Amino acid sequence: MGTRTGYHTDTVVGPVGPPANGRTKLRPATAGAPVEYFRAKYGTIFLGDSLNVLDRHVTPASVDLIMTSPPFGLVRKKDYGNVDSGKYLEWFRPFAAVFKRVLKDTGSLVIDIGGAWMAGQPTRSLYHYELLIMLCREFGFHLAQDFFWWSPSKLPAPAEWVNIRRIRVKDAVNCIWWLSPTPWPKASNRRVLAPYSVAMKGLLKNGYKPMLRPSGHDISEHFAIDNGAAIPPNLLAIPNTESNSYYLRYCKEHNLSPHPARFPAALPEYFIRMLTDKGDLIMDPFGGSCVTGEVAERLQRNWLCSELLEDYVMGAVGRFARPLPSNPQESLFPDSAVSGDTAYKLYHPAALWSKAEGDPLAPDGGRKRPGAGARAEHGPRGDR
Ligand SMILES: C[S@@+](CC[C@H](N)C(=O)[O-])C[C@H]1O[C@@H](n2cnc3c(N)ncnc32)[C@H](O)[C@@H]1O
Repeated sequence: MGTRTGYHTDTVVGPVGPPANGRTKLRPATAGAPVEYFRAKYGTIFLGDSLNVLDRHVTPASVDLIMTSPPFGLVRKKDYGNVDSGKYLEWFRPFAAVFKRVLKDTGSLVIDIGGAWMAGQPTRSLYHYELLIMLCREFGFHLAQDFFWWSPSKLPAPAEWVNIRRIRVKDAVNCIWWLSPTPWPKASNRRVLAPYSVAMKGLLKNGYKPMLRPSGHDISEHFAIDNGAAIPPNLLAIPNTESNSYYLRYCKEHNLSPHPARFPAALPEYFIRMLTDKGDLIMDPFGGSCVTGEVAERLQRNWLCSELLEDYVMGAVGRFARPLPSNPQESLFPDSAVSGDTAYKLYHPAALWSKAEGDPLAPDGGRKRPGAGARAEHGPRGDR
């Protein structure tokens, strides 16, 4: 048995080879003890239930950051099995208790969670807000800040409400709950600064007259000091469009199913940079394809990921076969990285409002489906 910072491991079992012929059906890890499947320089992938991994392998108050995306409470299930949104809190409770136990007082719990639509009607489930309230009220977490991850590449869905009946807009934002066991998790926004906007650059160049804004905010002359970069908002614009990454090529070459619900590397990278230092311990209990582990490895943080399904772990191992860039300044993830001056455009809502309003609103709220001849307008590809 070996001991690493904050956790201990048994004998390494993997990496085992990829399946010999064809894609395998996803196999859950055998019940019982989790196995240490793969070991990298800074971290370990466990195959097994993260409740067992956290119970058996992780020292209390040793983790600096839990960065994770649990299975969402969906109505339509994905390959790896999602939890019914109505039973979500019950399912999450044991995880909440162990997360609280293993986190340091200065640590953070960052949860990326997507919303869900109610079955058969155009309304939203409240499950992810209920989760947040449960974590704070029942388990004593503090909401350090709520973030929103906007994926500019998200397709309009669900088609029935968005494209056919045209009574809802596309759902392109995930909630990210940044929680902490105390109100004082360690953090610095200096690690995640953004380029100044064109407007701000103009203001710095041409000067700014201190004034009281209509909102009551007193904008002093300090506002016009050039600090080199801007403090970013709690809205993260990251497209989720990976299509030719090292990971995907590895899965294809080895006949493995890529994980269907990966988050982009920039998401864990943001929180790992803002909330941890080199040598800290990061855990992803719903590891999937181990994006969190790969980012942590490259940023020289200690880490562990656990994942229930073996095929995903087999693909995850491929992430660590990728050669490191020789130039440390080189982007960590050239496959998904964007250049420093990339800015996404979100139109002001009034951009098209000068046009006529068109037909009056359907008084039944869209309850009656458009006739058989109706087609989905601005269907998936056309409205990105
Ligand atoms: C939304 S996915 C995470 C994807 C991951 N962030 C990525 O980018 O690849 C959630 C994962 O949690 C795994 N999972 C669900 N329950 C688990 C448990 N008790 N222990 C370990 N993994 C679990 C599922 O198999 C699934 O792969």
